[in-house]
Amino acid sequence: MMSLTGTYKARQFNLSNLQGISDETLEMHFKLYEGYVKETNKLNEKIGEFLKGGKVDQEEFAEYSELNRRLGFEYNGMVLHEYYFDNLKTGGGTGDPTGQTGFRKAAEESFGSYDIWKAEFVGIGKMRGVGWAICYENPANGRLSNHWITLHETGNVAGFNPVLVMDVWEHAFILDYKPADRPKYIEAFFSNIDWNLVERRLHRLMAQPVAA
Ligand SMILES: [Fe+2]
Repeated sequence: MMSLTGTYKARQFNLSNLQGISDETLEMHFKLYEGYVKETNKLNEKIGEFLKGGKVDQEEFAEYSELNRRLGFEYNGMVLHEYYFDNLKTGGGTGDPTGQTGFRKAAEESFGSYDIWKAEFVGIGKMRGVGWAICYENPANGRLSNHWITLHETGNVAGFNPVLVMDVWEHAFILDYKPADRPKYIEAFFSNIDWNLVERRLHRLMAQPVAA
């Protein structure tokens, strides 16, 4: 079958013994993530089928449109989970970044202080609804901004660099905390952040000077 993008493979994440997020939660979460990879592949294949003759027949247009409408949901569901698992550290992290890291500096320049940045990121994570809290870096000027993403796809900023991604769908914590205890999960999330990884994400999309 023709697929527009090739086939994505579900990645394996070496994560266990997190603080306050159980291995059972992770196992369930990995399976959900694999579902997004599968659905993304399936959509790309189906859309590819429509294009086989070089055009979409008028009578197939409604179905074709519906598949394309679902594409952003499945794609972002796949990609955001990869960012999320990647920015967690097996065995647990060290809490807030210590010393004068690039992230702290960027947070201070953008928000006045790391604590104000954190208060806003945590506040966004507590918003009612199903979605994500994401700290993005604007590659044009290195400034950070925090965003609420509804579902997986509504609210992402095109071209911005996701440097810290937190899943706040209930499936991310429901085995460990009651729905009303989302703040405890957010606290657990912070104690497991891999700040070295976050550091490596910073500035990676910023324009490099071109040699004359
Ligand atoms: Fe999730």
